[in-house]
This record gives sequence, structure tokens and C-alpha cells, in this order.
Amino acid sequence: MRGSSKEIKSNSRGRTSSNKSAIVTSALPYANGEIHLGHVASTYLPADIFTRFFRLLGREIYHICASDDFGTPVLIKAEKESKTPADYVDLWNKRDYEDFKSFGISFDFFYKTSSKENAEFVQYVFKKLYEKGHIYEQAVIQFYCQFDEKFLPDRYVIGTCPNCGAENQYSDLCEKCGRVPEQILEPKCSICGRPPVKRSSKHYFFKLSNFSQQLKIWLNNNENLQSDIRNYVINWINEGLQDWDITRDLSWGVPIPMPDAKGKVFYGWFDNHLCYISTLTTYLQKKSHSTKTDGKKYWNDSEIYHFIGKDIVYHHYLFLPAMRMGIDQEYKLPDYIPTRGHLMLHNQKISKSRSWYISLRDFIAAFNPDYLRFYIASVAPYSQADVNFDWNAFSEKINNELIANVGNFINRALFFVQKTFDGKVPEPSSENDVDDRDSIKEIEKIADEVGFLLSENELDKALRRILKFATHFNQYFQKKEPWSNKATANTTLFIAVNAVRSLAIMLEPFIPLSSERIWSQLGMDESGAGSIHKQQWKSVSQITIPSGHILGNVEPIFRKIESKDIDAQKAKLSM
Ligand code: 2FM
Ligand code: ZN
Repeated sequence: MRGSSKEIKSNSRGRTSSNKSAIVTSALPYANGEIHLGHVASTYLPADIFTRFFRLLGREIYHICASDDFGTPVLIKAEKESKTPADYVDLWNKRDYEDFKSFGISFDFFYKTSSKENAEFVQYVFKKLYEKGHIYEQAVIQFYCQFDEKFLPDRYVIGTCPNCGAENQYSDLCEKCGRVPEQILEPKCSICGRPPVKRSSKHYFFKLSNFSQQLKIWLNNNENLQSDIRNYVINWINEGLQDWDITRDLSWGVPIPMPDAKGKVFYGWFDNHLCYISTLTTYLQKKSHSTKTDGKKYWNDSEIYHFIGKDIVYHHYLFLPAMRMGIDQEYKLPDYIPTRGHLMLHNQKISKSRSWYISLRDFIAAFNPDYLRFYIASVAPYSQADVNFDWNAFSEKINNELIANVGNFINRALFFVQKTFDGKVPEPSSENDVDDRDSIKEIEKIADEVGFLLSENELDKALRRILKFATHFNQYFQKKEPWSNKATANTTLFIAVNAVRSLAIMLEPFIPLSSERIWSQLGMDESGAGSIHKQQWKSVSQITIPSGHILGNVEPIFRKIESKDIDAQKAKLSM
């Protein structure tokens, strides 16, 4: 829980001043399409920056994710490609993981909702909810295709949206107006195109309404939740919660463990968030080579963070906690649900069907992945506000902030030592002038200031503070003119090289690949200081590189983005 702000400011861990282990989850990507910039901006990048920061603090933290393998969109696409659903999701599971990896997302474990461990856990939770009276059965009238001899849930029915008149829309979502059509007009089976009939089918419902009071109490008492979201979720509760149909007449999904439920599986949103827990347990057991390892104890002793985008607030602030409440909080509720807005592309909504998106893979093929990490981290606030990706703004930010500020200082300082001192960090004089003292002070206070913002999830603000630090040192270097002031050059360079070290560590959560390069140019790999990813956050504020230390091979870390690079990207979007 939050301490007083005085307490908070007194150390770099901010409100998370505990030493508890932490579990971070990122919303599970559907296993049916490529990861694009929208995904990483709202969820995976913020979660990764946060996780990397916690690792530097020396806290035990695991970042867990999985592919979301069930649901009709996945099934329909698998059928279109004449693949079994299991094979189909396997391909995406591997591909998504590779994409995340090349973007520097450092999951501890990436698993799948169709794992046997998840299926068992989901069935266990269902049975417990059933025993406790939170589940009931009810007949539902459903579309049924007599030709295909199938019930047609969700995306299996297409028709005309009753709200906006758009044709060829799915019965569970109109892509034109974004609403869920209550009664789709002129329904057709999406497999054979024939009109379906209506037939009754028995479904299981979760009594979400049982938890209205408990949910309100939890929402009001959990001070870590973003307050605007808390307020509108409470409004939803006040408007009355609908019980929730958690089953589907399909063969692809977690089977329902009831004797009369043949041909039925759980709805994807019943099983996917349970996969956070089953995946953590699987991971811990694999890691310890023992199926006895107690995932539950670890879960309950840890701080729980679920990173999500704002489109799935309903599921994470209502379904997820209610289901955990329904099993007597055998697994604790989330401590934090860091929720961010959507990414717009040139101020327009990202849309795969209109090809208005940029895939992560294409991006990485064209640019250093750290450029995207830097850009998104600096424009995405810790709020639900939408964020814009714009190719021109992107290149300006990279060229003017990352390269002309951060890169410039690092390169100037290291290059100067290489050229003038043969790569050996000079011995500072015992006399510091006011600029030296200011600069040392800047180093001494930076770990706490940036650390506080990071621990509060204010990643954009933390990055801005780091840029201010780089600006300070650019100015320091410029003012001291070590190329003409021989008498003070030693001290200037000694302080500057140590500031580069501070920058490398502070930037590791944001631009991990480039930080590795800075680290090796600093000669830290060879000096036995260990990997950049394993440094101690508090050492950011220490002067630890001694005089006499030998730098590595110095060269420019970043390459400027040329306008032709941007033009080529815009052409791909037909701009
Ligand atoms: O909206 C989505 O993309 C879902 N696949 C997210 C699932 S998160 C869950 F597991 F809670
Ligand atoms: Zn049909």
C-alpha cells in the first residue's frame, strides 16, 4: 500500500518499497495474427520496462505471458488455412515469442492457454465455483447451421449490424461502429453462407452479480488502481452487472468437466486470465524441476501486476477479480492493473482489416528496435489517453533526443578519452569547481529521482528526467571545453565517463540493446563488472569507474534516421 509521499521520496523504490517478489503479467495476445505496434505500446513495452527496472533494483520479479489460443476468431482462421487449431496456434505462439524477443521483451516464461496445465487449472476453478454456488445452468437460444450441423457462436455468424447498417459484420462485434449488435440482421453462417436456424442449448453462467458488493469494496480500497478507471468501473457495477455465459458449443477450448457438457468448452475469457496463474506455477515448477513447487504460495507472497490496454478493463477489473473472489481468494487479487490507452497511427485507429497498422516484425526489419522502445516510452503516459505514432515525429524524436542528446554526449565523452587519453580514464584533480560539484550532485540524486518515477509506473516522466540528465552533461562538457582547457580536462572526463555509466544503467530498461553497446564501449564487460542487465540500480548514483580504467572500442552507438527511410515507411502505408 501507498506510504506518505515523504516516505516515498526517500528512496528510489517509491511506493513499492517492499522487498517482496513480484509477478508481472502482460495481456495474452490472441494466437491468430502478428504483433503490431498497438500491442507493444499499451502493454508489453511498459511491462518490460517495469520488469527490467525491478530486476536492477535487485528484486525477484517474473514476467509471465502466453498466447491466447482459444476463441472463434482463432478457430475460423485456422479453418481458413486448413490447419488444425492446435497446429495453427502453435505457429503463432512461436512467432509472437520471436517477435517479442527481437524487440527486447524479456519474458521469464511465455506459454499458452491451450496447455494441459492451464486446462487442468481452469477445470479446477470451475468446479470450485460450481460447488460454491456461483455457477448455474440455463438454456440459451443460439444460431445453429443445419448444413454444417454446428452451433454458431460469436464470429460464426455474420450479418448486417442493426446499429449502423454495415454489412458483413460478426454477430459479436461490428467493426464499423465498434458496437456489439444485440440482434444481427440477415444472419448467415460464416462457414457455408446459409441462413442459420435457432436452437436451444444448455449453457453455464457465472453469477457475476453475486460479487457486486465485494468488487466495489476491493475497487475502493485498492489505492494502487488508477482512479479514473476505478470510478467508471464502479459506475458499471452501480448500473447492474450481467451474469456471464461462460460456455460455447465448440470443440476447440478447455472442455467443461461436467457429465452432460459434451461438445461444449469454456469461453476464452473464462480461461485466459487463469493462464496467468497456471503459467506462473508451471514456470516455477520447471525452474525448480519439481512438480511440488507451490505456485500458490509464491503468488500470494508476491505483488501482482497485470499490465493491460484499456479495451480489456471490463475483464480485468470485474471478471478476473470476481472469479478469484469466487474461489475464496485462494490466489490473491491483483495489487496493480497498469492500464494504458490505445496507439493511434497518424491519428487514426489501427485497423488490421484496412491494413492500417505496422507490424512489429516489419518495424524491426527497418530500424533499431530500441528506437521504437524509446519513442513509445517517451510518448505513452501512465493513463488511458491514446497515444499517436507518427513517422515524422518518430524520426524527429530519435534524431533530436536520443541521438543528438544522449548519443552525442556519450560519444563525445568516450571518444575524447579514446583519442586524448589513449582510452584510459584520467585521474581527476583534487580540486572540483562549481560545475564539477553540480555534476557530481546530479549523479548522486538521479537514481532516486528516476527510480521513484519508474516505481510509480510513470515511465515517460522517468525517461524525460533521464534526458534532462543527458542535457546537463552535454552542457557541462560544452562549457568545460576539455579540448582547450588542459588543466581541468582530466576532471571533466573522469566525471563525464562516470555519467555515461549512470546513463547506461538508467537506460537499460528503456533501450536494453543499446545499453549493452554503451556498456561494452565503456569497457565494463572486460572489467569484470558483469552484464549491464545485472547491475544495481543504486549504483547509478555512485562514481565507480576509477581512473586508469580502460575503455572498450568506441564508435557511434546510433545511426541517424534519414528522411528517405521515413518516406519508404510512409509509402508502405500508402501515405
Ligand atoms: O484482448 C485480447 O487480446 C485478449 N487475448 C487478452 C487476454 S488477457 C487475459 F488473458 F486476461
Ligand atoms: Zn453453415
